[in-house]
Amino acid sequence: MMYGEEVVERILFTENDIKEVCAKLGKQIYEDYKERNPILICTLKGSFMFFAELVKNIGADFSVEYIKASSYIGAHTSGEVKLSGFFTNFEVKNRDILIVEDIVDTGLTIQKLTKFLLEKGATSVEVVTMLNKKVRRIVDVTPKYVGFEIPDLFVIGYGLDYNEKYRNIPFIGIMNPKFIEK
Ligand code: IMP
Repeated sequence: MMYGEEVVERILFTENDIKEVCAKLGKQIYEDYKERNPILICTLKGSFMFFAELVKNIGADFSVEYIKASSYIGAHTSGEVKLSGFFTNFEVKNRDILIVEDIVDTGLTIQKLTKFLLEKGATSVEVVTMLNKKVRRIVDVTPKYVGFEIPDLFVIGYGLDYNEKYRNIPFIGIMNPKFIEK
């Protein structure tokens, strides 16, 4: 049995689907940023796999940085976003920033992060996200680049976790609700 199979109700996007979407997004980002030497920020922990695949498709100069943002406990948002770690200590003044997210859900994380970076003097801040759960938005934020739109379902795999598990599933699957603690 494949790892994680017992908790995945249905596969939403295969590894190949994700690779294709990264190629498409990488091309758009290349066109928009090729002369801007942006900073690409990987939001830990969920974005690491998408980030690695995406950057292979951007054939231009950029720096990479990492920020840890957390808000979820199990399958529910706490509504409070924490930015943490020494990772936030890098110079963003007069730089174009592209935040790389695994999933935009309520929008609180990117709202907080965008504000934080603009206050530190960034020239521009945009977001690329692998998944967009638009129906769950509670604040007015719009990622510029979106891999896939998804409905209000809890998904795991390709970096996304449930209580720190299942990040290593090589595709994105809907988690069977019977395994989710209420
Ligand atoms: P937001 O601040 O509500 O937009 O939430 C963003 C973060 O919540 C993401 O970076 C994920 O870590 C987590 N998250 C939201 N939805 C899911 C999901 O369906 N599966 C796993 N993590 C999720």
